[in-house]
Amino acid sequence: MSLESFASIEDMVRRLHPSYPVYCVRRDILRDNAERFLDRFPGDVLYAVKCNPHPEVLKPLHAAGVRHFDTASLTEIAQISELFTDAERYFMHPVKPRAAIRTACEVYNVKHYVIDHRDELDKVVEETRGHEVVILVRMATPSGGATYELSRKFGAPPEETVTLLKELAARRVQRGIAFHVGSQCVRTSAFETALDLVANVCSAAGEIDCLDVGGGFPAFYEGTFSPPLETFVDTISKRLEASTIPGHYQLMCEPGRAMVANSMSLVVQVQLRKDNRIYINDGIHGSLSEAAVGGVRYPTRLIDLGQQRSAQMLDFTVNGPTCDSVDVLPNPFRLPDDIREGDWIEVQKIGAYSNANRTQFNGFYPETLVAIEAA
Ligand SMILES: Cc1ncc(COP(=O)(O)O)c(C=O)c1O
Repeated sequence: MSLESFASIEDMVRRLHPSYPVYCVRRDILRDNAERFLDRFPGDVLYAVKCNPHPEVLKPLHAAGVRHFDTASLTEIAQISELFTDAERYFMHPVKPRAAIRTACEVYNVKHYVIDHRDELDKVVEETRGHEVVILVRMATPSGGATYELSRKFGAPPEETVTLLKELAARRVQRGIAFHVGSQCVRTSAFETALDLVANVCSAAGEIDCLDVGGGFPAFYEGTFSPPLETFVDTISKRLEASTIPGHYQLMCEPGRAMVANSMSLVVQVQLRKDNRIYINDGIHGSLSEAAVGGVRYPTRLIDLGQQRSAQMLDFTVNGPTCDSVDVLPNPFRLPDDIREGDWIEVQKIGAYSNANRTQFNGFYPETLVAIEAA
């Protein structure tokens, strides 16, 4: 079935009058984002599927030329394999069930696996025996400007990374290094620090076959101050040119957020207003979990259907639809002071970790997605 498309968000609201949340995807923006990465990054660009696995997001990225996908589960590997016959899938979760490793290798022919511990190394070697694979050691990086510090959960310290790389060499397995500076990282210096650590590790462990600089490239939400994507990529390129990392390694990155965040808006409807509090039809248990967990502040606006509305703006506390007390956003939406029941609001830059994180709590499950075609 083809995706329903509209000329604008206003057009969609006029025609559907949705009392349910609606994801509005801009495929032209997905194409532009993919081209920016593919043109500029001096290696392979793996899209991090976890960030937004909707087929209507994956298909435009693939159409724009993305052929490599960072997958973290067998479900994601199967999804990409079924959607695209020409896509390379990489199993980048540092902790994997044995059966998933075996199936990824034997059924889906996945070649790249990440580990950050000796026991996981043994597991991957045992479950892929007889196949030519590449094992990347995920190295922890120091905190430096990210909203989500992934190295709190994953990554071997540099000394242990050296030990694991030597172990891989002893077993004659192709080897690489992966890191992730943390999601929504606003400082380019985090990549420089990590690449300097990689160079140190390599001076002790020798040549590598691949280097994965991860994701972390930021989206531009309200209050985000960061250089543009090009500055991040150029910083990485320059550091690599100046660095002493040995070997002819495959270079890759794994962007999620920066590839998709600005490609999608969420249209929500006001169900009730109580003074300066509004109750809307999506929330923390649905598409807006990052507003709570990461304090993400999405740009918002009242959808203008031609009515005369107040020019006076007010901060409104936003309550989600579920019948619990957790579902309240920590940051307000700034909206016209005459906002009322039935109004629609556009929540912008919602493409990352929104539909990917939604739950069915209380029976609320946002699932309508339409395309907005730029003129
Ligand atoms: C291994 C890995 N790669 C890539 C990503 C995508 O990161 P981001 O969305 O910050 O670009 C993540 C996010 O958690 C990840 O865990």
